[in-house]
Amino acid sequence: MKVKDVISCSFPSWYDRFEKCTIKSIVLPMTPEVLAYMQDNGTLVLPEGSQPEPTYKRNEEEEEEDDWDHCETSGCVVEGPKFEEYNNKLKEAIKKLGGSVFPKLNWSSPKDASWIALNNSLRCCTPGDVYLLLKSSTFVTHDLTSPFKDCDDVNEADTRLDYYLVLRRWMEINPAHEFRCFVRNKELVGMCQRDVSQSYSCIAADQANIRSDIICFWKENIENRFPAPDYVVDVYRPAKDHVILLDFNVFGETTDGLLFSWPELKGLEDTRQCQIRIVDDEPRLSFIDEEPEGNIHHFNERNITDSNRHSYSPLRENMPEFRFISDATGVQPSPYMQYGLPLDIVDLSTGHDPQKLIDFLQMKMQSEASESSEDEEEVPS
Ligand SMILES: Nc1ncnc2c1ncn2[C@@H]1O[C@H](COP(=O)(O)OP(=O)(O)O)[C@@H](O)[C@H]1O
Ligand SMILES: [Mg+2]
Repeated sequence: MKVKDVISCSFPSWYDRFEKCTIKSIVLPMTPEVLAYMQDNGTLVLPEGSQPEPTYKRNEEEEEEDDWDHCETSGCVVEGPKFEEYNNKLKEAIKKLGGSVFPKLNWSSPKDASWIALNNSLRCCTPGDVYLLLKSSTFVTHDLTSPFKDCDDVNEADTRLDYYLVLRRWMEINPAHEFRCFVRNKELVGMCQRDVSQSYSCIAADQANIRSDIICFWKENIENRFPAPDYVVDVYRPAKDHVILLDFNVFGETTDGLLFSWPELKGLEDTRQCQIRIVDDEPRLSFIDEEPEGNIHHFNERNITDSNRHSYSPLRENMPEFRFISDATGVQPSPYMQYGLPLDIVDLSTGHDPQKLIDFLQMKMQSEASESSEDEEEVPS
C-alpha cells in the first residue's frame, strides 16, 4: 500500500469528482485550533456554545431542595474551548444539509463511538453532537495519528496532510442493502454484503439483480474515474436500478475484507497449477492435484499439453464473485461490539493481555481463599 493510494481514498480527494452519485456533503477544513482540540486526549469538554442552552430552567425552590454538598468539586471548573466562528460554520452546514448530518474526518467515521451519543446513533443535529462523537472515536484517532501506518513508502513520501471535517446529509440506511466491492488492477474482482453480523434473506432472493445493478453502476460511474488501480468501494442499493456511492477505502489489510480474505483478494492464495480437461467435449478447469470432478465414466481426458496448463486465480472464473451470508450459521460478530466497554473487560475477554488475566485470576483465588477461611472461623465448636 502506498501513501498516494491512501490519499486518493481521503474524502476531500474524491468528493468533487463523484458528487453526482453520492450523498450530498460539505467539507470544512479544520482550523489549527480545532485540530489541536481534536488531537488532545485530555478531559472531554465540549466547546462553548456548541450545544443549545437547555430550555428547562430549575426554579429556586427546586435548587434549594437538592443537597449538592456531596458533589462539591475542588473548585476547579474546566472550561471548553471557544470556537464561535467554527461553530457557526458547522451550524450553517448542518442547516444546509437538512438539519441532521453524518460526521467523519478524511477517512473514518466515529462508528465505534455511537454508544456515547444520547440517541445511540451517529445522527448529529448540533456542533456539540459532532465534537462529542469525533472526540470519542478510536477510528477517528487513527486518522489523526497514523493514517499511513500500513504504507510501505511512508518514509520517502511527503506525508504532510490537511485535515477536514466532513458532514454528510443524514440518510436512513438499511444495512441489508449495503455492499462492499473490491477492485484489483482496475477489475471488479469481488463484492459482498457490508454488514456481516446478519444474514439477510432479501439478498439471496435478489442476488442476480443486485450483482448486475452494482456492476452497471461501477462501470458507468467509477471504473474509469477513480485514479488508483486498486481500491475498495462501498455502495448502497436501496432499490432496483438505484445504486449510490458511499465511500472509498484502501485496498489492503487496513480495510476489512469482510467475506473475503486479503490473500485471495490480492490473488496470492492459490498458486496451484491448474489444467483444462475436456469433459464431454466441454473444457473444464481443475487443479492438477485434485481428483477430477464429476462422474468418472464421463471423463474423457485428452492430451493435456503445456499450452492449456495455467496458473489460475479461483476468483477469476465468475468475476466479480458475489458473496453473502445465506443462513444464520454464517454470521460473524459485529466488529463494533467491543467499543464502549471498559478496556479491562475487553482485554480479559479477548485474552489480548495475558498479564491482566493472570492478575484477575490471582485476585479471584485470594478472595475465595479469604472467604473460605472466614467460613471456617464461623463454624461453632
Ligand atoms: N450520510 C449517512 N447517513 C447515515 N448513515 C450513513 C451515512 N453515510 C454512511 N452511513 C453509515 O455509516 C457507515 C460507515 O460509513 P463510512 O462513510 O463508510 O465510514 P467508514 O469509512 O468509517 O466506515 C456506512 O456503512 C453506513 O451504514
Ligand atoms: Mg470507509
